[in-house]
Amino acid sequence: MKTVKIALLGFGTVAQGTFNLLQDNANLIENRSGVTIEISKIFVRNPEKYSHITLPSTAKYVTNIDDIVNDESIDIVVELMGGTTFAKDCVESALKHGKSVVTANKDLLAEAGPYLFDLAYKNKVDLRFEASVLGGIPIIRTLYESLGGNHITELVGIMNGTTNFILSKMTEEGLSYGAVLKEAQDLGYAEADPTADVEGLDAARKLAILASISFNRRIFFEDVTVEGITNIDTEDISYGKEFGYNIKLIGIAKETSKGLSLNVYPAFVPLTHPLASVRGSYNAIYIKGNGIDDAMFYGRGAGSLPTGSSVVSDIMEVAKNIAFESTGRFKPFYFDQKNIYSPGKIQSSYYIRLAVDNKTGVLAKIATKLAEQKISVLSIVQRNKDPETAVLAIVTSKCPHSYILNLIDSFNSLRSVKEVSSVIRIMEA
Ligand code: NDP
Ligand code: HSE
Repeated sequence: MKTVKIALLGFGTVAQGTFNLLQDNANLIENRSGVTIEISKIFVRNPEKYSHITLPSTAKYVTNIDDIVNDESIDIVVELMGGTTFAKDCVESALKHGKSVVTANKDLLAEAGPYLFDLAYKNKVDLRFEASVLGGIPIIRTLYESLGGNHITELVGIMNGTTNFILSKMTEEGLSYGAVLKEAQDLGYAEADPTADVEGLDAARKLAILASISFNRRIFFEDVTVEGITNIDTEDISYGKEFGYNIKLIGIAKETSKGLSLNVYPAFVPLTHPLASVRGSYNAIYIKGNGIDDAMFYGRGAGSLPTGSSVVSDIMEVAKNIAFESTGRFKPFYFDQKNIYSPGKIQSSYYIRLAVDNKTGVLAKIATKLAEQKISVLSIVQRNKDPETAVLAIVTSKCPHSYILNLIDSFNSLRSVKEVSSVIRIMEA
């Protein structure tokens, strides 16, 4: 049986999950792939930090990346460090040295994916990235292989485990944002800099990768319009429950005759929609294709073993390709240029929370402003905060985002409006 030697770069959350699965399921992996996968080197900055982990006799720590890229016996480099500078240098160097690469690094792919895929193709090696999007959910290969015969028109999903964990805890336990973020970090869900999670950047990078495959276009992180969850308040979550919604950070990509729309934003999801019941660090994605109709994929979007599971599946696939001398047959999947649709034109219903003077006639002024923008009200709830202040939570009819921006300006121009506290989109049921 052929032995394929691999090197791990980094030995954190995902790398240790990968390591544990390769160790614990070694027989099963060998039987299924027909290849023996041997961990040969693990690149770390400080081996002392990992002295509590027993390595197999075949493996050793190295602290110089050249000991891996210049080692001709290593077939696959598994990049699990994260970041876009040093990780990019390592991936680039490995590909140029004729090694296949498996990575979980969506930041790197969203920024430099097209360049690296072209490089892998030129060097006749593989570059695989199943773990980079939706952790343990096998979605990348599903999109380009299993759904390869479909024209995909829309994908919408919960693509970040950290924010879904935070929003679920805020919704179910009424906990504050800060307390829950710390828990998500301790559980290994959050990025090294959790700003990437809570500001929606991580989800945007994942959406860029998924949309590139789905719509056959080079889509970069910069093409996605992004809004995070840092302004979401437990008060909004409570009003949302009253209206029949759960709050979620969603990524949504659509193809219409006018072009592609690519957005990440917090949205109220109707409780009747399956995405509303996706809790904790779980992720899910809904895909519309002209053959499959609707399909939904659900699973753990982050964490050591779930993400390791996706990394191991890529290692197995590449190892089989190496055994059959068929690496590099996979041409990068970009062939179309498509227009990106302006976010201002995207239509949605909206939830708006306002603090207003608790006086007669104020509601009529609010209604007039809505009518001026041709926006109707689907529901409204009023709670009196104190004798002088009333809080209005309004759900509007569907309208373009630009109309809502005009409406907010006109609300702010009213002296009886103390504050427009929140504006949140409502996902279609
Ligand atoms: P961790 O922070 O847990 O681990 C990163 C590892 O890489 C550590 O061992 C770290 O070493 C090492 N490392 C980082 N930078 C360098 C460097 N410049 N030189 C040498 N070693 C370095 O990260 P994760 O395992 O969580 O994430 C790894 C990748 O997987 C990221 O791209 C992330 O986006 C992606 N990912 C993570 C998921 C998750 O659930 N955590 C899910 C899906 C993808 P040191 O200890 O010395 O800092
Ligand atoms: N920080 C990411 C998340 C890890 O929370 O989803 C998985 O990519």
